[in-house]
Amino acid sequence: MTATTTAPARDEDDDRTPPSDDPFDQDQLPTPPGATGVLLRSLLSPMRGRVAVTALLLLLQQAAVQAGPLLVAYAIDRAVPAFRGDDNGPLIAVAVGYLLCAVAAGALQYAFVTASARVSQDVLLDLRGRIFRHAQALSVDFHERYTSGRLISRSTTDVESLRELLEEGLQELVMVILSAVYISVLLLWLDLGLGAVAVVSFVPLYLLVRSYQRRAGRVYRKRSTAIAAVIVKFVETMNGIRPVRAFRREAVNDAEFAVLNRRHERTNGDALLEMARYVVGSRITANTTVALIVLWGAYRVADDTLELGVLAAAVLYLRRLYDPIDRLGMFLNSYQSAAASLEKIAGLLAQTPSVPEPSAPRELPERRSGLPGREVVFDDVRFAYRTGGEVLPRFGLTLPAGQTVAVVGSTGAGKSTLAKLLARFYDPTDGRVLLDGTDLRDLTGRDLRREVVMVTQEAFLFSGTVAENISIGRPDATRQEIEQAAKEIGAHDFIAALPDGYDTDVRKRGGRISAGQRQLVAFARALLADPAVLILDEATSSLDIPGERAVQRAMATVLKGRTAVVIAHRLSTVEIADRVLVMEHGRIVEDGSPAGLIAGTGRFADLHRAWRDSLA
Ligand SMILES: Nc1ncnc2c1ncn2[C@@H]1O[C@H](COP(=O)(O)OP(=O)(O)OP(=O)(O)O)[C@@H](O)[C@H]1O
Ligand SMILES: [Mg+2]
Repeated sequence: MTATTTAPARDEDDDRTPPSDDPFDQDQLPTPPGATGVLLRSLLSPMRGRVAVTALLLLLQQAAVQAGPLLVAYAIDRAVPAFRGDDNGPLIAVAVGYLLCAVAAGALQYAFVTASARVSQDVLLDLRGRIFRHAQALSVDFHERYTSGRLISRSTTDVESLRELLEEGLQELVMVILSAVYISVLLLWLDLGLGAVAVVSFVPLYLLVRSYQRRAGRVYRKRSTAIAAVIVKFVETMNGIRPVRAFRREAVNDAEFAVLNRRHERTNGDALLEMARYVVGSRITANTTVALIVLWGAYRVADDTLELGVLAAAVLYLRRLYDPIDRLGMFLNSYQSAAASLEKIAGLLAQTPSVPEPSAPRELPERRSGLPGREVVFDDVRFAYRTGGEVLPRFGLTLPAGQTVAVVGSTGAGKSTLAKLLARFYDPTDGRVLLDGTDLRDLTGRDLRREVVMVTQEAFLFSGTVAENISIGRPDATRQEIEQAAKEIGAHDFIAALPDGYDTDVRKRGGRISAGQRQLVAFARALLADPAVLILDEATSSLDIPGERAVQRAMATVLKGRTAVVIAHRLSTVEIADRVLVMEHGRIVEDGSPAGLIAGTGRFADLHRAWRDSLA
């Protein structure tokens, strides 16, 4: 094991350090006091019994191991003299006893390693699952603050440092501490003076370990930040490979990466240097103690105040005591880094969704027959993102059930914000968003997702087949229903032309599904989900103009029978709306029918005129 493998993946974003320019350091997640302990207990308590058995196995194993030097002392001081006096009984007893201890120690070690491996695997399994489930359940605004890079680092690097501790460090650490206790007691019992020297030698060793920990902790923290920076740079570059190519950023990126890479290398060197200093210091202390004991012991043997066997046993014990000291610094590091990791994981798991599930959920009344969709009301809503000023100042709006409303306005006006509030990605800072009179905050997430669906520009496809992607909103849909939805949207022809039709894996052949086709799949998905309220945020932006007629048809199909909010820059899509809202700076500045607004003299009339001129 080298210092690199125990690489305490510490604090690449130590959540307690003050803010800095490092992207990993920004927006700390403070771990509430006690959260780490609560997490640890909740992880271990289901396997309390097994932990106890594992501990017992270790105690017994150490007892068997530490019996060896005692038997040697007995052999030298009793069995050999007896053998000289023609009694070979004690010698045979010692040999048999030694053998039995060795066999018992081996068997117990095997049992202990197996038992502890099972415990640690179960802990890690549980922890990984919890991180995933929890992160997935957290609100959108959390994910905007806490980058996916940090989440990845929580579930990989941090879990990995726990794994290292559980699988390698912890056993050794406990063994070292346990054997130190056993050996000190045995030495003190064998000979108070020799035992006292050994115990006193713990003082400089302890100071050495502490100082190493402090210094190494600093170095490791720096190194983890350096590693994280390398990873972030790597991920960012590869994620943005298209703009990188388009803007010829390769050379700049190479240079930036080289700097980060070198910084990582330097901190690595520093870490190894600290390790080397520690190893040298601890060896000098250990060997000095052994030399002192041999010297003093020899005097006393000569004086007949100490038996030779006891001195031999003492030296053997000291060797056992000091041998693992070299590695103790490393175990402690892996312990420290695992503790820091656990703390960060606990901080993540202690986060509560800012868009919480209702404690007393309310059911929506059945969808009224005859009146399709549901009424949407923004009741005196104010909203500000966590970072930044108020985006919606006192916003009131009523959309009658079944109405299709188009929202237009310049970039940054707050259109998408409006949509995200309606889909309850965020809760209003003040006021309420009502669906048929019920506050969105009183609906369960499940009900809400059934009632309100948002289709955005990205039209994200999950790995899986095209059919699976269409049926996400209604997993129980039959193939026939899926194809029906695709046909109504006008996506059937291109899907049927894919290599495996509806069974084509979108990731494997992702390149074959264009942005426009993805949007059609997203429309089919929305149609099949059949929500009461549908929000389209720039959802037609990738569909081609020649297909405009088809787009209009697809839109009309998907909007029929529901309340719809359509955000679009393209005015042709606006024409199918019953009502147009023009937004500026979070306010509605115009509100009316498309024809009415076009006939007027407002902003929409200007926009429309400019658009018509551009077509001519
Ligand atoms: N996640 C966010 N955190 C902080 N501020 C945000 C966030 N999203 C949007 N904003 C800010 O809120 C304001 C409104 O943004 P919004 O996305 O609603 O605009 P939009 O009308 O949809 O614009 P566009 O037409 O460009 O899509 C902008 O000033 C934007 O900077
Ligand atoms: Mg937008």
